[in-house]
Amino acid sequence: MSEKKIVILGTGGTIAGKGANALDHTGYTAGQVGVHDLLAGLPGWGESAAHKLVMEQVAQVDSKDMGFAIWTRLAERVAHHLADPAIQGIVITHGTDTLEETAYWLQASLAPQKPVVLTCAMRPATALVPDGPQNLLDALSVASLAGAQGVTAVCAGKLHSALDVQKVHPYRLDAFDSGDAGPLGFIEEGTVRLLRPWPGEGAAAQPAWLANQVAVWPRVEIVTSCVGVDGQTVQSLIRGGAQGIVVATTGNGTVHQDLEAALRLAMKSQGLKVLRATRCAQGRVIPSVSDALPAALGLTPVKARVALMLQLMQGD
Ligand code: SIN
Repeated sequence: MSEKKIVILGTGGTIAGKGANALDHTGYTAGQVGVHDLLAGLPGWGESAAHKLVMEQVAQVDSKDMGFAIWTRLAERVAHHLADPAIQGIVITHGTDTLEETAYWLQASLAPQKPVVLTCAMRPATALVPDGPQNLLDALSVASLAGAQGVTAVCAGKLHSALDVQKVHPYRLDAFDSGDAGPLGFIEEGTVRLLRPWPGEGAAAQPAWLANQVAVWPRVEIVTSCVGVDGQTVQSLIRGGAQGIVVATTGNGTVHQDLEAALRLAMKSQGLKVLRATRCAQGRVIPSVSDALPAALGLTPVKARVALMLQLMQGD
């Protein structure tokens, strides 16, 4: 048996959900089954498996309730295991609802040189045909792969980069998409067919500076630019402690003139940090020299919020 181990960190979600009966696909309670039970009896991952499994329950939540205390603990556990030469890779079981935010947070803050694979399910563990076990098997295949690196997400046989992945459907088993970039690859019968470089591949290793250092999370809010919006929200949010605002913009980063005026004033007079991210489901904001507000390029509004929090944490 290989000396290398794979760590599975449980955080909850539908993959660990329990329903009232085998046909309960919507009224179930997420985050009920422990990570040890999720792994119990997975074919090929018993005592004789090539990699020993190490399991930890970091949290047990419905990911709509994910919070910064859990993120801090999760990043600390990921950084701890990444630093151990005996660890080949990490799998994180997570709810689908905020998976893309956690994936982006871990990639942006830790830039792991080993595989960190988030996986999930759209049906609870008690469903007649749950999708979690296959997703977990696929995630273990990715985490076992020599040369794999960066934070990825596995769902319905597809491998997505943390940078591009987005939940796009509230019910279908294949609920994630990577937009214009397309999936990073596919997992077929336990084999990873990679289509593009791993997240962060070729970039310099980044120290896991963040895991132990976040004392106060900067407050960053998202405001949507839409019909009839005005600037009043901006001052309310600043009064509530917001240091940054992400604008979910129309089209190619355009902002209603009244909202834009309020943001520009707050940037100048109150030091507010602003990022524009398009509210379009696909594509990116293409910057131009005449832009008054910085653009988050290909990041969705929720990921741009994480990026802005990280900027603020680093004193930028
Ligand atoms: C959750 O995000 O925890 C619940 C929904 C899901 O995992 O699909």
